[in-house]
Amino acid sequence: MQIAPSILSADFANLERDLKRIAGADSAHVDVMDYHFVPNLTIGLPVVEALHRVSPIPLDCHLMIDDPDRWAPAYAEAGADSVTFHIEAAGHPEDLVKDLHAAGAKACMALKPGTAFAPYEELLEVVDMVLVMTVEPGFGGQSFMADQLPKVREVREAIRRRGGEIRIQVDGGVSAATIEQCAEAGADVFVAGSAVYGAEDAAAAIDQLRELASACVGHG
Ligand code: DX5
Ligand code: ZN
Repeated sequence: MQIAPSILSADFANLERDLKRIAGADSAHVDVMDYHFVPNLTIGLPVVEALHRVSPIPLDCHLMIDDPDRWAPAYAEAGADSVTFHIEAAGHPEDLVKDLHAAGAKACMALKPGTAFAPYEELLEVVDMVLVMTVEPGFGGQSFMADQLPKVREVREAIRRRGGEIRIQVDGGVSAATIEQCAEAGADVFVAGSAVYGAEDAAAAIDQLRELASACVGHG
């Protein structure tokens, strides 16, 4: 059970300090947005390179951008431990996964709430993780969409059938109130932005989320 706090809810004027606040997490989730794939603009490659120099934990880059085939490999080269592209935006996902692996990163495909998993099941042969969005991508602090949990179950079931070590990440509205249902459905990597950075004590919030998720192991 891994917790990946989203620095979208951090103080952008104090990113180094705010990375240190989450040093007890498994990775730092970095939301890259381009004003095209989503109606918001955040940070890009130079900032990711700078974060990589100072981060005490691995970077998990979530690219909400058009044309990831062109832009995503540079994030792997910049030192991201894991790079997530949206399947809705990818032209040749199998080639993209190969490029990410060649650059030394894990590769993850993300599904927006309106995107079905079944047409992409074959990609379980190559990806390391599937991200099931539990909000419409673009902004932190939105309400959790419980109607995405059947998709988490469907992905978990497909992974079980096929074997292999593939993780399932959920992102959006994950908090102490919603993390257990995600773990129960089969997720094992949990992104939490406002629930961690909005807490008085970010380290305690991370521990609490991990404990809640871990208590659900085996139920999924
Ligand atoms: C939304 C981003 C999320 C966001 C999550 O598009 O992908 O990672 O930061 O924020 P919370 O946990 O506040 O919903
Ligand atoms: Zn994200």
